Amino acid sequence: MTIEFAPPATRARAALAFARKALREQSTMGALVPTSRCLSRRMASMVPSAPGACVVELGAGTGAISREIGLRLGCDAVHIAVDRDPVMLAALAHRAPWARRLVGDAADLADLLRDNGIDGAHVVLSSLPWSFFPPPTRARILDQIASVLLPGGTFVTIAYRPTRLMPRARAVRAALDDTFETVIPSATTWANVPPARLYLCRHARRG
Ligand SMILES: C[S@@+](CC[C@H](N)C(=O)[O-])C[C@H]1O[C@@H](n2cnc3c(N)ncnc32)[C@H](O)[C@@H]1O
Repeated sequence: MTIEFAPPATRARAALAFARKALREQSTMGALVPTSRCLSRRMASMVPSAPGACVVELGAGTGAISREIGLRLGCDAVHIAVDRDPVMLAALAHRAPWARRLVGDAADLADLLRDNGIDGAHVVLSSLPWSFFPPPTRARILDQIASVLLPGGTFVTIAYRPTRLMPRARAVRAALDDTFETVIPSATTWANVPPARLYLCRHARRG
């Protein structure tokens, strides 16, 4: 597999597109700037380098994490990039040309994957804005993730540190605990804006 990295002008365009949308629709984006390279790398380190692995990225946006996933993929691995915004996802054609882009809602993940011939995922990585989802939507998306994870699979999601004590962030953590038997927080990545950590989730309680 050839991995081509986008030139600075493409990255700058992607960052601008991200900021414009973040200012217009905070609740859809949940962040003002793309995920930092440092946190993206930490997240992508969860991608198995085994041949044929299937990695699903939720909320791929303009591709900050996608390019780091590309560095980790083994031969015949599949990278599915899902976002409900086709304009954001279009940027991935340049930044992560190896990824299969699927426009759709994470709330319909199981159908979306099935309709595209994907049986399940070894890893699901999310940068979705969990705190902005109404509780039923959040629960539905988590159920969908649990249902597509293959046995032994891992779900990884970003949690922002400054808001960690707020009720909505606590509710997200509780929903993760409700969905997975094992939820492990990583160390904080201070170089991200805002500082953030990852939750590594395994062993879905139902699926
Ligand atoms: C914070 S941005 C993350 C973008 C990029 N992955 C990054 O880390 O910089 C969140 C992305 O999630 C997408 N999104 C929000 N709700 C979604 C949903 N229910 N299903 C799929 N994508 C969603 C938004 O369109 C946006 O591109």
